[in-house]
Amino acid sequence: MKSKICLLLLSLAALAAQAWEGDVAVETPNNMLILHAREGQDLRMAYYGMRVTDLRQLRDAGADLNSSLLPAFGTVDMVQLPALQVMHADGDLNLELTTTDYTSRTEGDAVLHTFTMRDRLQPVTVRLHLKAYQRVDIIEMWTEIENGEKRPITLKRYDSGHLTLRQGEVWITHMHGNWAAEAEPTQEALTQGVKIIRNTDGARNAHLDAPEVMISLDGRPQELTGRTIGAALCWSGNFELRFNTQSHREHHFYAGIDPQSSEYILDPRQRLETPHLALTFSQEGLSGASRNFHRWARTEGMLHRGMKTGDILLNSWEGLYFDINEERMLRMMDDISSFGGELFVMDDGWFGDKYPRRDDTSSLGDWVVDKRKLPNGLKALTDGASQRGIKFGIWIEPECVNTTSELYERHPEWALQAKGRQLKLGRGGTQLVLDMTNPEVQDFVFGVVDNLLTQNPDIAYIKWDANASIQNFGSTYLPRNRQQNLYVDYHLGLVKTLQRIRQKYPDIVIQDCASGGGRANYGLLPYFDEFWTSDNTDALQRVYIQWGTSLFFPANAMACHINHCPYWNTGGRVVPIKFRCDVAMSGRLGIELQPRDMTDEERQQTTTCVRDYKQLRPIVQTGNVYRLLSPYERRGVASLMYVDDHRRQGVLFVYKVDNYYDQPLPRIRLAGLDADATYTLTEKNVRVGQKPCWLSGKRFTGRTLMEVGIEVPLREDYASRVFVLE
Ligand code: GLA
Repeated sequence: MKSKICLLLLSLAALAAQAWEGDVAVETPNNMLILHAREGQDLRMAYYGMRVTDLRQLRDAGADLNSSLLPAFGTVDMVQLPALQVMHADGDLNLELTTTDYTSRTEGDAVLHTFTMRDRLQPVTVRLHLKAYQRVDIIEMWTEIENGEKRPITLKRYDSGHLTLRQGEVWITHMHGNWAAEAEPTQEALTQGVKIIRNTDGARNAHLDAPEVMISLDGRPQELTGRTIGAALCWSGNFELRFNTQSHREHHFYAGIDPQSSEYILDPRQRLETPHLALTFSQEGLSGASRNFHRWARTEGMLHRGMKTGDILLNSWEGLYFDINEERMLRMMDDISSFGGELFVMDDGWFGDKYPRRDDTSSLGDWVVDKRKLPNGLKALTDGASQRGIKFGIWIEPECVNTTSELYERHPEWALQAKGRQLKLGRGGTQLVLDMTNPEVQDFVFGVVDNLLTQNPDIAYIKWDANASIQNFGSTYLPRNRQQNLYVDYHLGLVKTLQRIRQKYPDIVIQDCASGGGRANYGLLPYFDEFWTSDNTDALQRVYIQWGTSLFFPANAMACHINHCPYWNTGGRVVPIKFRCDVAMSGRLGIELQPRDMTDEERQQTTTCVRDYKQLRPIVQTGNVYRLLSPYERRGVASLMYVDDHRRQGVLFVYKVDNYYDQPLPRIRLAGLDADATYTLTEKNVRVGQKPCWLSGKRFTGRTLMEVGIEVPLREDYASRVFVLE
């Protein structure tokens, strides 16, 4: 039946395409981007939105935007900004792109549409690629720019993509934040003028501003309703997202590499492929767009873990910081296995010979075991883990070096540095970033992972950190007249190295960390299984951070750990263990504390949490998210839920984030369920010493749960509840 419907839609589209010659419909199951691709003219965008079967009606309705898809300097309308500008070898700054060819072919689960465009005067070719997935509503857009001139040309601007939107009450939601306060959704209406969202850290791009944005077309953003475009630039370096509203008819959205200090030099016959811009369109609000991104990440290789779920782990960092030794590691392994956990991760502090890593002032680059702390090497730890029936993981920061290290003594030229200028030093007053444009450095970074894994084949997990920005702009490897390629070539070198690692080690689990969530982006996640969401593990603040992060990233990518209290990052805040567990259970559950300091109640609650989490893990980690009540709406309560693909099972999380006398608590209306099915609610991770609340065991139709909702008992400070629906 399904295939018949598909055939019908295809033939309608084919008929319509014939009637509207020169138009190309780029289609996913529910989305459609229509382009005018007339030979000898510039490529123009007609429509982006939900799939329509009759293209002629669009034009009759006056809904054809007929706007340049890749506006280039030299031909751009006065009210638009260019997405592309090239300085030719002779100094000419203009581009007049005309379409010369169009092809489409199947590539895995997607159809790849390619439009070739050439400048009218100079031999510069731009290919625009659109990859339309056939099982998920994502279209990736990017360009490939080729220099056919005899001398180098300069790419002054090289956006990956551009969309024209009909002007209206359009709002954007973008993630702003900081170290330990990542992913705060910032919402605003687009007004006349230009709005730029940019990150210039150089090495990481998800602290401060992140390379994703939601565009709500029907006014103030809603979670479950409203036409919403989601856009994610799949890139780990500097970026720029731009909105231009200068006409009274249109908004223009551009996304690409930030050209500031990065005007890219392209040699003759060289090609640059720009990062992919992933786009989705949903009629189901922000949550709908999120679900499309999560599905794409998990099913189309954009998250290395795919549909797999992550292990429950204990990480040593917040429990011990640098103060590790063999005995403490083995004791922590005892603890995580006594909770029912599956993996132990030894964080920073295990390495350095001539310069042992006692704090953050030395040793990065010297990836050899510190025998003073670990006299029996890593073997004693991997054996210790397997004796306890758990896996072992380890922390590294391979792209960085401390000036106090043997590596820096051997290769000072490997660090990024501005020639003749004093070094700006990062963390610990000694940290520098290695030059990933240099193939020798790429080999070294590959070798860090390769040596660890060949010498210790039982390592199951790596935490790959990156705790520095590019503060010293300059490479001893890049020639004098190619320095401006540094910001881009760094990330091309990084990705090349990660691809090499993945070719040899496809199965090892690697966590993407950058001082917390500094590298949660789709440029790197194809090579990583998950990311560290934030160095802030305060459960109350995590409700907010995880909320924002889930806008684009799925729960099996998001590492969420139970912390210790009082917690230093939030001024000594004490949050009950039940709340801490319930918040960590909404992503990939882990623990980040010294178990020896826990009270009996904390140990018991954590054991209950781990046991119950194992049952609901597949629904949380691979289910579809519905964010119900935002903590940012200041209703006193935050709530979200996950539902499996068949709508048979769900998990509901409810957190009280504020508490005062006579507080009006909202009723929780669920979403995403089968209205006609009957669900039984069972409370999970019940507070130690208490009975499940009165809702537990009750049966409701999906319709009642979604239309009437439930009154969830939340009396005390930091009250929280977790329910499974079956
Ligand atoms: C960063 C990470 C932390 C921890 C430390 C170790 O800050 O985000 O989780 O690994 O480095 O130095």
